[in-house]
Amino acid sequence: MVKSLQFLHLLFATVWIGGMVYSLLFLKPALKELGKEQKQNLLREVFSRFFPAVWLSILVLFITGMGLWHGYRRDFSQNPLFHVKLFVFALMVLVFAYIYFFLYRKGKLSHIPNLIAVNLVFGIFILLVISYIS
Ligand code: HEM
Repeated sequence: MVKSLQFLHLLFATVWIGGMVYSLLFLKPALKELGKEQKQNLLREVFSRFFPAVWLSILVLFITGMGLWHGYRRDFSQNPLFHVKLFVFALMVLVFAYIYFFLYRKGKLSHIPNLIAVNLVFGIFILLVISYIS
């Protein structure tokens, strides 16, 4: 059971953070070659597929994370770095909720890559923190 939780946790951490890396380092620079309307259409097509995957990642990371915490690593309750991880995760969810409801759903697509950059920094910070959580 723990191994399945760890696998799903790692898989969906990869989907979210990997998707943000792709959006910023590979998709965004390629958009520069396109006209305004083509850019908007491509961004809408990509986000309409990526954002449901992010909501699923948030759900799976939370459920598997709670399962791993309370079912396997109860010692994390006394680990300040783990609470830093949870706080930064909450910030990432808030930033993504703003992206989704206040930008994407309102068609303000051009502002989204900058906020994805913020969440990517948070995600990489979580991976750094995990490296130091014993
Ligand atoms: C963006 C969000 C998150 C990312 C990128 C992330 C990533 C990771 C990674 C890579 C590990 C594996 C570390 C290892 O095996 O050494 C891990 C372990 C863990 N995560 Fe997360 N996590 C996230 C959110 C959460 C949340 C929200 C919780 C709790 C509600 C959580 C609880 C845990 C626990 C308890 C472990 C330890 C499991 C073990 O020792 O094998 N994580 N996380």
